[in-house]
Amino acid sequence: MSYTLVSEDDAPWRKLLRPVIKTLRLAYIQGTTVVKLLPSERAIQLYYKYRRKSYDLQWAMDPGYRKGLDRLIEQCCEPGDRVLDVGCGTGSATVIAAGVAREVVGIDLSPDMIELAQEKVAKHQLTNTTVITTSVEGYHPEELFDKVISSFMIPHVKPQYRPAIYSCMYSFLKPGGLVGLFGSRGECCEVYETRQEIQDNLTRAGFEDIQLYDIYDIYRIAVARKPEVPKS
Ligand SMILES: C[S@@+](CC[C@H](N)C(=O)[O-])C[C@H]1O[C@@H](n2cnc3c(N)ncnc32)[C@H](O)[C@@H]1O
Repeated sequence: MSYTLVSEDDAPWRKLLRPVIKTLRLAYIQGTTVVKLLPSERAIQLYYKYRRKSYDLQWAMDPGYRKGLDRLIEQCCEPGDRVLDVGCGTGSATVIAAGVAREVVGIDLSPDMIELAQEKVAKHQLTNTTVITTSVEGYHPEELFDKVISSFMIPHVKPQYRPAIYSCMYSFLKPGGLVGLFGSRGECCEVYETRQEIQDNLTRAGFEDIQLYDIYDIYRIAVARKPEVPKS
């Protein structure tokens, strides 16, 4: 149950640079363990109040992040879809999905991140996109979604609460809908999920057809389906 979706280019100069790039990526991703110090929703909101200005700039330094977002959308989103981006942050995945899907909704706990997402939506003149400040747990959509995507949100959720977040994502989907997750790997940095953990959490929530794709050296995409006839 593991595929390599994006392998690294074999050009000689790339081979030489690869260990250096991997070291830089690992150092950056290790920095995200700071989220372990955020004990509550309020603390996460405060953190992003001050972190939001440097957020996009930091990710812009690693083309692997943008590549992963593009692959996530390619794997999950189709024209005609109604898509939910869970923990959308500044809306990077939201706006890419909006270029493909019929309608996109982004939700995030942080009003400061949502403000930046709103600016992006306006800048791209997206008429099919709405972004809302709400926690995953507090969100109750009036209409179900064809696809749910989420990138780099799960590390904010303590491992014991992750099953509840996966259950929310499951409940937001129509039968037969897909969930697509993008993040780093628990094998590289402890705040992310290992292959086994992500498979266990998705399975426990009721998802099936789980596929894991490695992106470059530290990223991973997981895609899974809500059964057409959900188990009761
Ligand atoms: C690392 S950022 C990722 C943002 C964006 N998805 C990206 O790929 O750049 C994590 C985001 O998850 C949000 N978040 C954390 N816990 C959340 C929760 N329980 N409900 C909704 N959003 C949450 C944070 O406010 C933050 O904006």
